Amino acid sequence: MSESVTVRVPAKVNVQLAVGAARPDGFHDLANVFLAVSLFDEVTVTAADELTITCSGPDADQVPLDRTNLAARAALALAARHGISPDVHIHIAKDIPVAGGMAGGSADGAGALLACDAFWGLDTPRAELLDICAELGSDVPFSLAGGAALGTGRGEHLTELPVGGTFHWVFAVADGGLSTPAVYGEFDRLNTGTDVPEPVASPALLDALRTGDTTALAATLVNDLQPAALSLRPSLAATLEAGTAAGALAGLVSGSGPTTAFLTKDPDSAAAVAEALLASGTCRTARVATSPAPGAHVR
Ligand code: C5P
Repeated sequence: MSESVTVRVPAKVNVQLAVGAARPDGFHDLANVFLAVSLFDEVTVTAADELTITCSGPDADQVPLDRTNLAARAALALAARHGISPDVHIHIAKDIPVAGGMAGGSADGAGALLACDAFWGLDTPRAELLDICAELGSDVPFSLAGGAALGTGRGEHLTELPVGGTFHWVFAVADGGLSTPAVYGEFDRLNTGTDVPEPVASPALLDALRTGDTTALAATLVNDLQPAALSLRPSLAATLEAGTAAGALAGLVSGSGPTTAFLTKDPDSAAAVAEALLASGTCRTARVATSPAPGAHVR
């Protein structure tokens, strides 16, 4: 057994988030096109007397260090399946902004799962790891998978998607979070009395990903949760406006927000948009990243 295992795991953006009507279990069926982006957390597992978590990085003070953390829940779930004691220390070196919409918590869950699996020498089959991820949360399987994928069901059933180029993004990180259940609840409220269509992936968007066509992707980005996120956080409209005024090809709320994502034509444009977003005072910070990025992997 090695003394420690470190796993690197990416953030994500949803380039299409098509949301259906609420299901009887309260979740919503989705056509969720995930794209992993090059902002990474690193999750390191070492031996300990009991399960403990620490976190470092600029947003570390906002990360829960108890058993609500998805990294702890991942270690507990894997240990329970194998009848072993989850006595590890998990350190999260956090570079993914803690704000919501980039799946930072899900990334740490997938990262801890893979790190514990390697640390304990379990060699759990990939399909079983993905099942555990799905139990932890709708976005966690994608954090393990990375690349690009269509998520159906509540987002946990993944079909890998081909990507034919590199996309350049800017992420505007808002102050404070937005509760995911609250955003879905607002989606339901805004759609009361309407016939919400079945969510389907856009063929034009999948084509833009496959061919690596940035302009076509910008024209097809869509998030059905955006009106709900804007309704709960009207100030995000000014962030979206600042990013597009600075030359982004398109901007949208990432997932349930409040992070907003801007697609730009090249690295220079991304740097200019990030600078303008910071200067606009409409966000806490702005980060530049590319996609696709690899899924969770042992370093
Ligand atoms: O699966 P996860 O724990 O990330 O979901 C958090 C919350 O987001 C759920 O409790 C639910 O309110 C909402 N959600 C949903 N439909 C989905 C995914 C999440 O309504 N497909």
